[in-house]
Amino acid sequence: SQQAVAEQHRPQLHFSPKEKWINDPNGLVYHKGVYHLFYQYYPNSTVWGPMHWGHATSKDLLTWQHQPVALYPDSLGYIFSGSAVVDVNNTAGFGKGAIVAIFTHHNPKGEQEKRIDFQNQSIAYSLDDGKTWSKYAGNPVLKNPGIVDFRDPKVMWFEKENKWVMTLATKDRITFYSSPDLKNWSKESEFGETLGAHGGVWECPDLFPLTLNGKQVWVLLVSINPGGPNGGSATQYFTGEFNGKTFTPFETETKWMDYGTDNYAGVTFSNTANRRILIGWMNNWQYAQAVPTKSWRGAMTIPRELYLKEVNKKIFLASKPVKEVDKLQVKSTTLSNINIKNSYNLSSKLNAKSSVFQLSLNEIAANDFSIVLSNKKGEELVIGYDKTSNQYYIDRSKSGAVDFEKGFAKKHVAPRISTNKNISLRIIVDVASVELFADDGLTVMTDVFFPAEPYSSISIRSVKGVTLNSIQYMPLKSTMK
Ligand code: FRU
Repeated sequence: SQQAVAEQHRPQLHFSPKEKWINDPNGLVYHKGVYHLFYQYYPNSTVWGPMHWGHATSKDLLTWQHQPVALYPDSLGYIFSGSAVVDVNNTAGFGKGAIVAIFTHHNPKGEQEKRIDFQNQSIAYSLDDGKTWSKYAGNPVLKNPGIVDFRDPKVMWFEKENKWVMTLATKDRITFYSSPDLKNWSKESEFGETLGAHGGVWECPDLFPLTLNGKQVWVLLVSINPGGPNGGSATQYFTGEFNGKTFTPFETETKWMDYGTDNYAGVTFSNTANRRILIGWMNNWQYAQAVPTKSWRGAMTIPRELYLKEVNKKIFLASKPVKEVDKLQVKSTTLSNINIKNSYNLSSKLNAKSSVFQLSLNEIAANDFSIVLSNKKGEELVIGYDKTSNQYYIDRSKSGAVDFEKGFAKKHVAPRISTNKNISLRIIVDVASVELFADDGLTVMTDVFFPAEPYSSISIRSVKGVTLNSIQYMPLKSTMK
């Protein structure tokens, strides 16, 4: 509704629910020209509660139509996170081209009674392109073997062996299962007990192939909470080989898909052919239930296309906003060859006043500089690069409302991975969030913030002085209906 649009902190490009609580994206699937976004949803409150799958659809990944709730809790429990696939070959027998959702049934009674087997995997199907859903009568299809955290199934079709592969978060590791029909599952292997970050429980994994220099490389995403590089929840990844049974990593060091604090439980769409598109929950369990929005809580990240890059013989996962974002451009203004010493007021030079925009910078040589977004109340958000530590950062300590959680007012840092001489930065700002894609997405940071009034001024600061090849400012159109 229009009223919702005018609400304070309401994102204009990012998906947010009309009202109430959301967390993880679920069941991301592309089908007959439509992107389906399901999500963890509690329609009765603005804090977490009995989980449903909310539903929205889009043709361009940016303009979303709200749809009726797809899955409601039932006698087997709440509907926790999971995935969706198109069953082209009708392996499950629900019908050719059925969309099948694979999710965790979380039984709150079992949890209360301190049983260990209260999370099990179940399925549901839709025969009308995602509009209505029926739960399978034989649920659960994968019973808990005695692991307290046993959830978030991500299923994909493993072409070579004509079987489905499920990547499941099982406490402190990933367990792979396979199935011919989505109903009968056999365990294949486990991964990660002694690898990666373990500051918290493993959740919401994803496994998919990407191509680098003509070779197939498998990427395994694993969200963990807590234990992220800047506190709270975050998503790590591994690159390696997958043979339908086991995942063998190339390297043992921990890598993060996004170093900001607000990209969690991100997973990719199924059925998008060669594009690998990820959406994450733009929030952090550390304060998600306390953020100062009124009628709703939670939003999704900008959909991002994932790809691989090699730096010093190591493989990294990089991300960039999907190309559909370009269509939101209103008009863009570019400045070239700018020397900045101390402070440069971009707003007055470019009439840059929007709180929904993209800004791209190219720096000649990697020197300290920062982009400062501010308002008349003296609140500011600082995004920058520090040469001595070779780190990017986002400092939200004076960004507006910060007192709702003691760890919120902080400066977050991320390593610069690229070895290029020039720095290129692209940021997308949408009222209450910033997404930083540095060096073509090799280093990514996503942070939320809550200013008392929208930031109306952009300036660039550099005490030591900096030369920018180009600055492009592009206000972006709202996609809110
Ligand atoms: C991740 C998560 C998942 C779980 C869901 C419950 O944010 O904890 O592991 O399925 O949220 O809402």
